[in-house]
Parts: sequence; structure tokens; C-alpha cells
Amino acid sequence: MKNETPIRVLFVCLGNICRSPAAEGVFQHLVDQSELLVEIEVDSAGTSGYHIGEPADSRMRSAAGRRGIELTSRSRQVIPGDFSRFDMVVAMDRSNYQELVREAGTYDGKVRLMSEFLKGPDKDRFPEEVPDPYYGENDGFEFVLDMVQAASPGLLEALLER
Ligand code: 4NP
Repeated sequence: MKNETPIRVLFVCLGNICRSPAAEGVFQHLVDQSELLVEIEVDSAGTSGYHIGEPADSRMRSAAGRRGIELTSRSRQVIPGDFSRFDMVVAMDRSNYQELVREAGTYDGKVRLMSEFLKGPDKDRFPEEVPDPYYGENDGFEFVLDMVQAASPGLLEALLER
């Protein structure tokens, strides 16, 4: 029997079609594979409204699919209520982070950067920001997945420790 109030985590990037849907899918997959005593609710959103209603970028869906991860979410923009609803709001890059802190008001302590959850050698292998793959080549999508897969166990640990 799981507890009634889930732990809620929201992943955020600019467009909510590449990085944050990938983080959402990867993290959901990790949660599904872990035998947890608590329920964890996972969602994603964008700081911009450029792509509202769109599925994740097809290049990111293909790359994730090759890793056995299905990306099903549709783009939405961050809303003010997200900062009270979610326990943690995880930004992909510094620009998202700064925008979220500005919007969060008194909830600014919930805003974190994805790379904070990298551990050990992964802290040196990956940059501070999850790079935007939108205008790049296919290896950019693979790199985003590598990075969010590396950071996800540390994030899960941090959420469970709260
Ligand atoms: P995301 O990538 O923030 O990882 O979803 C982007 C997608 C679209 C745009 C920028 C970044 N855009 O400018 O349309």
C-alpha cells in the first residue's frame, strides 16, 4: 500500500519538446523499475509556450525509443500553480533555472538544476547544463539522454530523502 500523497517532480526546459520530455520519460522509467514504497508523480513543462500541445520532437522520441523509453507527453507551459503542486522543479539549463526562480516567488527553494544530481565521475563527464539539441545533429539527442540517465538515480535518491 503506497502513501496517499505522492512526491511530485516537474522537469522544465525551454520548449518542452526535447530535453524535459526526455527527462520525464527517463525518470518515469526509473521509477517504474524501482520498487518504491511511495508514489512518485512525474511531469514536464516549458518556460516558453512555443510548442504547446505538440508531442516530443520526433528525433528525441526515436532516440528514447531505442533505449526502451516511450515519450508520450505533450508540450505545456509552466503555470504559477506548478510551484505549489510540485515538490521539486528541475531545470535543464541555467536560463530555465533563472526564469523558474523568478516565477517561483516564495517557492524558489524548490527549483534545482538537473546536473546537481550527477554523482562521482559523472560530475566531470557532463556539463553543468543539459545542452539544447534542437538545432543540432542526432548525437545531441543521445547526449541529452546519456546525461539525464546519469542524473536520474541521484535525483530519485534526493526526492526519497526529503
Ligand atoms: P527544448 O528544446 O527546450 O529542449 O524543448 C527546444 C525546442 C524548441 C525550441 C528551443 C528549444 N525553439 O526555439 O523552438
